[in-house]
Amino acid sequence: MARDSSVAVVVLGDLGRSPRMQYHTLSLVEQAGKEVHVVAYGGTQPHASLVHNSRVHLHALPTLVDFVGGLVPLERLPKPLVMIVKALFQVFVLLYALLVRVPGVGFVLLQTPPCIPTFAVCKLACLLKRSELVIDWHNFGYTLLALNLSQDHPLVSIAESYERLLGKLGDYHLCVTRAMRKELETNWGVMKAQVLYDRPPQFFQPLSYSELHSLFVKLSKDFAEPMHVRDCCCTDNGGANGSLSTRSASARTLFTEKQREASGGTSIVQVADRPALVVSSTSWTPDEDFGILLEAAKLYDELTHDLKSYPRLLFVITGKGPMKEEYRKKMASMEFKKVAFRLMWLSAEDYPRLVSAADLGVSLHISSSGFDLPMKVVDMFGCGVPVCSANYSCVEELVQNNRNGMLFNDAEELAQQLKALFHNFGREKNSRLQKLKAGAMASSKRRWTDEWAKVGLGIFAGGKGKDE
Ligand SMILES: *[C@@H]1O[C@H](CO)[C@@H](O)[C@H](O)[C@H]1NC(C)=O
Ligand SMILES: *[C@@H]1O[C@H](CO)[C@@H](O)[C@H](O)[C@H]1NC(C)=O
Ligand SMILES: *[C@@H]1O[C@H](CO)[C@@H](O)[C@H](O)[C@H]1NC(C)=O
Repeated sequence: MARDSSVAVVVLGDLGRSPRMQYHTLSLVEQAGKEVHVVAYGGTQPHASLVHNSRVHLHALPTLVDFVGGLVPLERLPKPLVMIVKALFQVFVLLYALLVRVPGVGFVLLQTPPCIPTFAVCKLACLLKRSELVIDWHNFGYTLLALNLSQDHPLVSIAESYERLLGKLGDYHLCVTRAMRKELETNWGVMKAQVLYDRPPQFFQPLSYSELHSLFVKLSKDFAEPMHVRDCCCTDNGGANGSLSTRSASARTLFTEKQREASGGTSIVQVADRPALVVSSTSWTPDEDFGILLEAAKLYDELTHDLKSYPRLLFVITGKGPMKEEYRKKMASMEFKKVAFRLMWLSAEDYPRLVSAADLGVSLHISSSGFDLPMKVVDMFGCGVPVCSANYSCVEELVQNNRNGMLFNDAEELAQQLKALFHNFGREKNSRLQKLKAGAMASSKRRWTDEWAKVGLGIFAGGKGKDE
């Protein structure tokens, strides 16, 4: 009985940075009534609703670096050797977690990638403990490996063969796009994979002006920090006195201000001539060419800096990653008249609020395999925010051009879209931006829990899903 009411969720990664697996976990608890054992690396703090849930048990995996400490200089050994040692170490700690630390479970829900060594280890653990293996395909692991090594590195083809061979061993398969389901069916021999689209959870919501105002007050320091030589958004152009003093900062921010009403109360309104807020998040990795956004911002600046009908653009970029500092230097050295950048790292609670505050989202994600969709766009739609997204093969399963967003193929197109969308910003009824906003609001109605009720429940609460 206890066995059937428990599920192990396995992520060989930082759980805090795997939103989809966190949502699965919450749905397993709340929608399917399960007890959930999460086996993952620590690192970023997962969402509070998960950490404080008595039915969610977190089993943190040690990393190789934790284990060998400073004794072995891993960074000086050849990369392929480190990868192999790392994989062997992972086999050991995963097996230990699944066979010893986690009690008997009905299902193991595994995120892939990474599939090395998780496919083999989870299948073995499932056989030994008579659990069923559910593989949740987010992408194909070997395509990510090819980005790190090179396309024709021998390890890439070994990894691909392994992935193709063992990928079939799941008892159930979930995946993120119809394109991926088709690929799994036609080229991988994985039949009956079910598409479970990423959809925003409840905490990505459109917010009221007064909720946004408290966010801007809280983040006023981050917004006020200039990043460029002449930064068009660091001083309050509205002319209010001493905008840095706490009293006026709580009355007026770069975007919103308190206004006295005739009745004597106050309400929050948008500041006239405020900059437009454009939000993007990135993992600062080579598979997202951030240079495209910089180039587009530069073009927008050149095209509009002396035209009154275009607003200032403030780009807020969130996220952490290897190329962040390199880009920070690059941005700081750029001179704009009408554009400014801020780099922020926000808590899991503030990030959704910042997204809601945006007038537009930008996604530079281009799938390494061509079969996955950008989660950040899902979140933006959850907040009713329209998106300019880099175009690639399957992105139209999410972004409908001219309905809830626009697709661009290069920096020039993105710059033209920024121009088209922000022309007469805040002054024109039925602008293109407002039409897209309405489309994004419609998209925001489709939620993770609905999607999970359709697909997830079928598998975890009865096994109906398998014969569908
Ligand atoms: C690629 O390299 C980065 C940094 O070196 C690492 O964090 C990531 O896990 C690697 N990805 C794969 C699929 O090996
Ligand atoms: C700014 O402050 C000065 C003195 O502190 C005052 O004379 C002036 O009226 C203020 N201006 C505005 C716009 O509040
Ligand atoms: C997006 O790219 C596809 C090819 O991958 C192309 O057929 C389509 O026309 C492009 N869409 C836009 C809006 O550029």
